[in-house]
Formats: sequence, structure tokens, C-alpha cells
Amino acid sequence: MKVIVGNNDYISGLIAEEFVKMVNQKPNCVLGLATGTSPLGVYANMIKAYKDGRVSFKDVKTFNLDEYIGLEGTHNQSYRYFMNTNLFDHIDIDKNNTHVLKGVGDYLGYANKYDELIKEAGGIDLQILGIGSDGHIAFNEPGTPFDSLTHVAELAESTIKDNSRLFNDISEVPTKAVTMGLKSIMNAKKIVLIATGKNKAKAIFNLLKGPMTEEVPCSILQKHPDCTIYVDEDAYSLVK
Ligand code: F6R
Repeated sequence: MKVIVGNNDYISGLIAEEFVKMVNQKPNCVLGLATGTSPLGVYANMIKAYKDGRVSFKDVKTFNLDEYIGLEGTHNQSYRYFMNTNLFDHIDIDKNNTHVLKGVGDYLGYANKYDELIKEAGGIDLQILGIGSDGHIAFNEPGTPFDSLTHVAELAESTIKDNSRLFNDISEVPTKAVTMGLKSIMNAKKIVLIATGKNKAKAIFNLLKGPMTEEVPCSILQKHPDCTIYVDEDAYSLVK
């Protein structure tokens, strides 16, 4: 794994350029996208590149990592809403080509065919990941099998606590989600992970220096052939 250290603006800019490069090289590429605070700067830079006329997303397909069970796509904490408001509404992507797991209705039926849909689209060319303070990627919490495909997951207590900052009250945070599995993520051809802040330092240490174990879901990335970790000084502080 390659590691790049810099402040949030710098690493967000670098990752956005990876996306711009990918889309310009392969206009009908498949992008794997994440939600949460970590990729916000990346998406802002991608929007700017589009507005500056440096890239067009009109033939791009996207697959998001996860969605809360119980939230409609119109709920302001759903990941569909997040993607629309933080990226899709501001670029020329065809929303029919954007895939986000469903959190209501036949969410299980859709989850069960998600890996097949990704495969039919040609597989993910470039996947962005954030990381949980407990080492989760997508909503694969500690103990998730390394060979997991898209499935229903229980959120860890620490994840519910971390994510409660975005809800009015912790009791409103969904306790379950649908998520791409660790094997689904490892199938991506290229992966970039972004982490900033002291609360990610232990997870980044375990990712870069710890053993590969299902107790630390992100540790599976150690065996991905093309994975780059972008961190700020705080997230990198235990490794140095
Ligand atoms: C979101 C996702 C999660 C987040 C992680 C970090 O789609 O897959 O794994 O990346 O919980 O969240 P933030 O970036 O909000 O710290």
C-alpha cells in the first residue's frame, strides 16, 4: 500500500484528480463512492473540475458502498440524499446510472443482486473509501468475514455514537444498514482511502502496521494490489 500524507485540502485535491484522470481516460468507467465527512472535499473538487470544463460524467456509472435500513432516499440523512446533494446534483451524471443501496422496500432483493449489477457494469475501476474509528470500511464492522458480499449489517455501538453527530438525537441513528461486503470492495481494480483527524489514528495504525485479521476489517486492504492511503498528520500520528 502506498501512503500519502498531507492536509485535508491537499489530499482531497489529489484524490479528485485521480477521479478526473480515470473519467477522462475511460469516460464510461465505473466509480465506487462513499458517504460521510471524509470524501466531502474530494466531491467538491470533482464538481469544480466539471464546472471548469475539465471533465464530463455523462457516461459514468457509480455504485455506493452502503445505506441505512429504514431511511427513504429522500430522508436528509440517507446516503442517496447525501450523494444527490453533495455530488450528483452538481455534475452532468445521468442519475439512472447512479446506484445506491435501498434502505426501504425490497432492500434485501436489491442487495442480493448488487454484486452482480457491479459485475455486469464491468466492475469498479476506482473506489473511494473512508474508515471508521473501529477500522470498519463501508459498514463492515469488526468480525465481518473477509469473503463477504453485499449484506445486511448491524452497526457497532461506536459507529452509532460516531454517526449520531449528524442526527438530532442518538436514538434516531439507524442500527442496521445494507453494505457492500469486504470481498465486493476488494474486487475494485483501484482503491483510494481517505482519513483525517486523531479519532482515525488507531484505525490507520492497525491498517498499516497491524496483522490482517477479521477483527480489523480494513486490514484486508493490505493484500489489495493497487490501494493508496491518503491521511493527514493527525490520522498518521501513531504510525510515525
Ligand atoms: C460511508 C462509509 C463509512 C464511512 C466511515 C467514516 O459510506 O462507508 O465506512 O466512510 O464511517 O465516516 P466519516 O467520513 O464520516 O468519518
